[in-house]
Amino acid sequence: MHKAKVVGAGSYTPETILTNSDLEKVVDTSDAWITRRTGIKERRIATGGMVTSEMAARAARQALEQSDVEAKDLDLVVVGTVTPDRQFPSCACLLQEKIGARKAASMDVSAGCSGFIYALSVANNAIRCGEAEHALVVGAEVLSGVTNWSDRGTCVLLGDGAGAVVLSRTDEDTGIKAVNLRSDGSFGHLLYSVDKLGLQEPAMEIVPGVCEQKPFYLVMDGKPLFKKAVECLEEITRWTLDKAQVKVEELALMVPHQANIRIINALAQRLGLAEDKVYTTIERYGNTSSASIPIALAEAVAGGRLAPRDKLLMVTFGAGLTWGASLVEWSI
Ligand code: ACO
Repeated sequence: MHKAKVVGAGSYTPETILTNSDLEKVVDTSDAWITRRTGIKERRIATGGMVTSEMAARAARQALEQSDVEAKDLDLVVVGTVTPDRQFPSCACLLQEKIGARKAASMDVSAGCSGFIYALSVANNAIRCGEAEHALVVGAEVLSGVTNWSDRGTCVLLGDGAGAVVLSRTDEDTGIKAVNLRSDGSFGHLLYSVDKLGLQEPAMEIVPGVCEQKPFYLVMDGKPLFKKAVECLEEITRWTLDKAQVKVEELALMVPHQANIRIINALAQRLGLAEDKVYTTIERYGNTSSASIPIALAEAVAGGRLAPRDKLLMVTFGAGLTWGASLVEWSI
């Protein structure tokens, strides 16, 4: 069996910044409330027709530049997203065309905020079994397009962006040591989309009437989701560390999904992981769903936070519910 290692990482976030103070003018909220309850100070918003596939392409080009892999050599493009430009063609196919990955198979993975780790698993397995030598894994979202801007319980949390990694086959004893995925559809009611496809009526009408004109928006029951998230993150982290035979103390860095600083802190506390080993971007970008881990990872790499042989843990949870984690021995 081959192994896959990360050979490049990149990210893209839109220039437009929406601060907590800006949101005070949109809904009944305050900078103090948002900061204390979530850790978020500002988020990026895609404007001027910027779509998910374009942000994905910008992140992907940066990741490819960092590696020795050219787009034309990619065998597989997998995009984790819940906000593709359209239902079909997939965001991955639009991305493939934009970057010129002409020989790659391309697909989207829909797993809520766990999309990137699910996509990583698909690509890792394709490389392990010999179907692919080089793969591009992306998490990209334009959540501002599916935000209910009259719901203060969700609109303060979300932001837009994209992150990408390039994976290559290796026969060295390094790279991705473990990926674990879980899901439990019985908790689907905690976070879901309401759309005009008529598939589902809202169970929780947050602001009656306001959402009617929106083609698609997000509904969340934050409090129970918070509790479930902490449980799931701890469970999958411990399972993944066990599988990779790595102790918490050996971790050089944890890059968790950026949903709420209190969730991240609760996880670190339960694991006994020091604050300086946890990488966060939530203050600047909010929750960018599938994009949050690869954006944070690319920034951590650019900031020199990872050295060869360092043990990196990425861990996530999201709508589904889905959750997952990966333990990587860093190799660039
Ligand atoms: N500004 C001011 N007040 C607010 C806001 C706001 N933006 N939002 C809620 N409140 C109020 C509530 O109305 C409530 O008021 P009340 O006490 O008078 O009823 C009070 O603040 C407390 O509300 P809670 O919902 O209990 O606040 P909580 O501490 O649980 O924080 C939050 C809410 C931040 C949403 C939290 O529950 C959370 O982070 N949950 C998990 C979210 C998450 O992880 N989502 C993941 C995925 S998102 C995605 O997939 C795209």
